[in-house]
Amino acid sequence: MDQNDSSLRIAIQKGGRLSEKTLLLLENIGLEFDSYKNRILVRCRNYDVELLLIRDDDIPEYVQDGICELGFVGHNVTAESKADVTSLRGLGFGKCRLSIAVPKTSGITSLKDLDGSRIATSYPVLTREHFERQDIHVKTIEISGAVEIAPTLNVADAISDIVSTGGTLKTNGLVELETILESQAELIQTNRPIPQHKKDLIHKFLMRMGARQQAEKSRYIMMNAPSDSVKHLCDILPSLKSPTVLPLAENDMVAIHSVIPTHQFWEVMEELKNAGATGIVILPIENMIV
Ligand code: PRP
Ligand code: ZN
Repeated sequence: MDQNDSSLRIAIQKGGRLSEKTLLLLENIGLEFDSYKNRILVRCRNYDVELLLIRDDDIPEYVQDGICELGFVGHNVTAESKADVTSLRGLGFGKCRLSIAVPKTSGITSLKDLDGSRIATSYPVLTREHFERQDIHVKTIEISGAVEIAPTLNVADAISDIVSTGGTLKTNGLVELETILESQAELIQTNRPIPQHKKDLIHKFLMRMGARQQAEKSRYIMMNAPSDSVKHLCDILPSLKSPTVLPLAENDMVAIHSVIPTHQFWEVMEELKNAGATGIVILPIENMIV
C-alpha cells in the first residue's frame, strides 16, 4: 500500500461526525499534518505516523487485518463489525446509543409487541443479537442510510438506529423503546503482531494522549488571601497534591496555587471567594503528567 512500511499507521474517519474531534485530539498532542484535502494517506510532519482516512465502517477491519495498527472509531461501529481488535480506551466524545424506536402513534410499548415485525437498521448484527437474546422473532431489513424514514414508507414497523441528541427521531415522529448499546469514540488496536519500533511509537502516543486527557480534567487555580485564612482555603481546595503557598510583598497576604478538577471549578470558586480569597485566576493546563 505504501513504500514506507515502518510508519505507525492510524485509521480515522474521513469527513464524518468524529473526524473533527479526532483531528483536534491529534493536534492537541503535538502532531502536525499536511493538508487532508482529497487525501487518503496523510503523513505526519513531526512524528513517525501516517493517517489513513477511510469510511468509518471500514476502520475495524483495516485494524483487524493489521493494515493500520490503530484506529479511531465509534464503539458502535466496532461492535457491529465483530472485528478481532482490542479497545484501548474510550475518548469521551462521539457519545451516542444504538436504540430501537417505534412510531409514536403505533401504540407499541414493549419489545415483546414487536414479535413478528420488521425492523429497519444499519446495524443488523447487534439488532438481531438483541432480539434473539430476548427470544423475540423479528425480520431485520438492512438499510445503509435514512433509516428513520422506513416506518413512514411502510418498509418497516420499527427501526434500530443511532441516537445522539434525539433530534432525528423527534422530527420523524419516533420514540425510543429500548437501548441496545451505549457508545462513544474509542481507540482500537490490532491484535496482529506489532514490530517493536511501532510498539514504542504507540507507547509514546498513548502517554501523550493520557497526559492531555488528564490535563483537560484539571484547571490551574491561583488566588490571593490573608495568611490567617490559608488553612480554611486549603480545606476547600479539592487538590491532587498539597497547594503551593507563596508569600506576597504585602504583609499578611499570601498567594495560593493549586490544581483542581475541571467539573468542580464553579462550585469551588464561589466557596473560595466567600472564604476571603481575592484575585482568583483559573487557567487551562496544556499537559499534565502525574
Ligand atoms: C446518525 C443516525 C441518525 C442521526 C441521529 O447518523 O443514523 O440519522 O445520527 O442523531 P440525532 O439523535 O442527534 O438526531 P450519522 O449522522 O451518524 O450518519 P451515518 O449513520 O451515515 O454514519
Ligand atoms: Zn457510517
